[in-house]
Amino acid sequence: MRILATRRYPGPALDELEDLEVRPLAALTRPRPDVEALVVANEPVQLDLLPSLQIVANFGVGYDRIGVEACLERAIVVTNTPGVLDAATADLAFALLLATRRGLVDGDRLVRSGGWTGAWSDGELAEEVTGSTLGIVGLGRIGSAVARRAQGFELRVLYTQRRPVETELAEYRELDELLAEADLVTLHVPLTPETDGMIDARRLALLRDGACLVNTARGEIVDEDTLVAELVSGRLRAGLDVFRDEPNVPRVLVDLPNVVLTPHLGSATRQAREAMTRLVVDNLLAVARGDPPLTPVRT
Ligand code: DGY
Repeated sequence: MRILATRRYPGPALDELEDLEVRPLAALTRPRPDVEALVVANEPVQLDLLPSLQIVANFGVGYDRIGVEACLERAIVVTNTPGVLDAATADLAFALLLATRRGLVDGDRLVRSGGWTGAWSDGELAEEVTGSTLGIVGLGRIGSAVARRAQGFELRVLYTQRRPVETELAEYRELDELLAEADLVTLHVPLTPETDGMIDARRLALLRDGACLVNTARGEIVDEDTLVAELVSGRLRAGLDVFRDEPNVPRVLVDLPNVVLTPHLGSATRQAREAMTRLVVDNLLAVARGDPPLTPVRT
């Protein structure tokens, strides 16, 4: 099977593929009827240039940019990499919660700039993470991993999702109730037509003064303009790993003390990324053998 990968994905697993070409999608300017499999990282697939495609193996759990419906209509299998990046993403969400709530980046900036004037820090006092209320939007694999981490911090944990589940990890709330009750809110839903703009201006206004919003899911889930206005006013805090127009970040956020910004690092650990490549390759090998893919995307 002729495989085109849009970059050299991390880890040794790609070496198992015999007929592999590494080339960015932007370099695909003429039809390639020889290509039967494509490895992308949530990138739009030009199906008209790839008439023999059998599988799109996505390096990542989110597949909102691929054009899955069009692939499935043409009987092209689409796979993703669920499970193997849960710990990495939950760790990052928790790191952002801690960093945002405790003003870590602003403190770091003060020390580096030479602006720290004495052992007694007389800046604004932070609120504790321990004992506060955490609201998890989407208690799937990653959301559950965040809830388990929250137990060590004695957090009261609320969750919301379309279908409530029996769980000891968190108490169910309607989304609006959760937003109004939590001190810390973290988003763990995929980007779909239902979640696009889900945290809109009305819902952002429900958040308590001083509440902290963490987004390691997708920028489009939040009304970014309103969030930026709330952050500029100082009413909210935020830890943001994802943005509406990546890699463009609203410039006004850069100097704000109440915001921590990271460049879409959710799965960016060696362990997660190598396991993602392994799962991509296992899906490709399964389809090449004529077996069902391990982790197919169904809509
Ligand atoms: C995912 O897996 O969807 C992440 O956003 C990629 O790092």
